[in-house]
Amino acid sequence: MSLGCANLVPVAALKPGDKAIDLGCGGGIDCLLADREMRGQGLVVGVDVLLPLLRRARQNARLAGARGIRFVVADVRELPFPSGVFDVAFSNNAFNLLESRLPALCEAYRVLRCGGRLVLADTVATGRVARGDAKAELDAWAGLPTVEEYERLLPQAGFTALAFQLGPVQRQSGAVQARPLLVTGRKLPVGRRAPSGRGQGRPELSLVGRRDTRPPGDSFGSHSEAREFGPPSRSSSGSSVPQG
Ligand SMILES: C[S@@+](CC[C@H](N)C(=O)[O-])C[C@H]1O[C@@H](n2cnc3c(N)ncnc32)[C@H](O)[C@@H]1O
Repeated sequence: MSLGCANLVPVAALKPGDKAIDLGCGGGIDCLLADREMRGQGLVVGVDVLLPLLRRARQNARLAGARGIRFVVADVRELPFPSGVFDVAFSNNAFNLLESRLPALCEAYRVLRCGGRLVLADTVATGRVARGDAKAELDAWAGLPTVEEYERLLPQAGFTALAFQLGPVQRQSGAVQARPLLVTGRKLPVGRRAPSGRGQGRPELSLVGRRDTRPPGDSFGSHSEAREFGPPSRSSSGSSVPQG
């Protein structure tokens, strides 16, 4: 079962041999997709605080015959891995559950190698709180991050080359909407410019504030289809988890 808000694995551009970490992996669906993307020749480490979810994730991985997935019980704000060991860090709809997001972003940055990529999908609140509706809307959306919060926190954590893509409205309360946000970023050596010239100054904001005009098959549109899996097959084996 997917509790994610975007189809982020294709965006992560994983290749065989990569090491990836899924922050707040839940039932592990993105771990399975990532393993499949790397044809079982990489390592995906799924991290979650909830052991029952990880048990289910392990079972799903076993049934799917996934070869390169490991699951670790841990808090994303305090990862039990050394620095610089992952090529890609991704997270699907988990950071909005955190009271404080900066420590988790700093941890994601720390465990990425230099040149490593962040792919973060999260549900954010957009729009303005209308006068008079303020209490109801604040109650409804309390705790959801905003695009502005991520614009501020991601560079603080160290990420550069940031690109933001806002998806269609999922829920609406008065003038406040909940929408999926997809962010990509890099851990680049200090002082090095991003290849496109991005990552300097204000992050690029694409699609923010616009209606969703993307064709089917993009990061938000094909989510449910992309999350279907084939029949159960072999048991798992594969690379070992980086030791903390
Ligand atoms: C909405 S679910 C998304 C699960 C999964 N990423 C998916 O797409 O199906 C959010 C997940 O974040 C996990 N989570 C929340 N806070 C966490 C924390 N501090 N450390 C690790 N995982 C956390 C929850 O246990 C839950 O599994």
